[in-house]
Amino acid sequence: MVALVVGAAIVTSIAASVFWMASRAPVHRLRADDATLTARGQRIYAAQCAACHGARLEGQANWREPGPDGRLPAPPHDANGHTWHHPDELLFRITKFGVAKAANLKDYASAMPAYEGTLGDEEIVAVLSWIKSQWPADIRSRHDELNRSAEP
Ligand code: HEC
Repeated sequence: MVALVVGAAIVTSIAASVFWMASRAPVHRLRADDATLTARGQRIYAAQCAACHGARLEGQANWREPGPDGRLPAPPHDANGHTWHHPDELLFRITKFGVAKAANLKDYASAMPAYEGTLGDEEIVAVLSWIKSQWPADIRSRHDELNRSAEP
């Protein structure tokens, strides 16, 4: 129940931040068809993300249930997860600033690190572009559609 309430709060607040992003901030676009960029992204993923999100993007076991510390495990980044439910700029902001800041949840405790200071903006775009390049064609086109509807 608590998890459900937190989940609903996240959805609401993500919707609010998507609105904010669409109205003001510059957008970072993923480029899943750019082979040079995705090759770089694949290397970054192996070094920085695979330990939690899995070498094959499979995520951690029971990723929908908070662990004993109340924090959620790392979700998959493949078609089974909900990474593809979020537009480019929100994925960018989650990776750069962490979940709490990206979703405007001040007191939300998350095990997802913030990569600001570790990865540059283009490296963040590269790793997320590689993740997207691994999705099946139908999921990629649904994500393209989502991005179009998130635009101002
Ligand atoms: C220490 C473990 C850990 C590492 C390393 C890690 N993550 Fe995460 N990540 C998480 C956890 C845990 C969550 C779920 C956080 C939550 O909802 O509280 C998450 C969530 C995310 C989300 C949101 C997914 C969604 O469906 O909402 C994105 C995007 C993401 N991570 C990208 C990355 C990228 C890109 C890297 C590497 C640059 C990375 N993560 C490295 C633990 C990690």
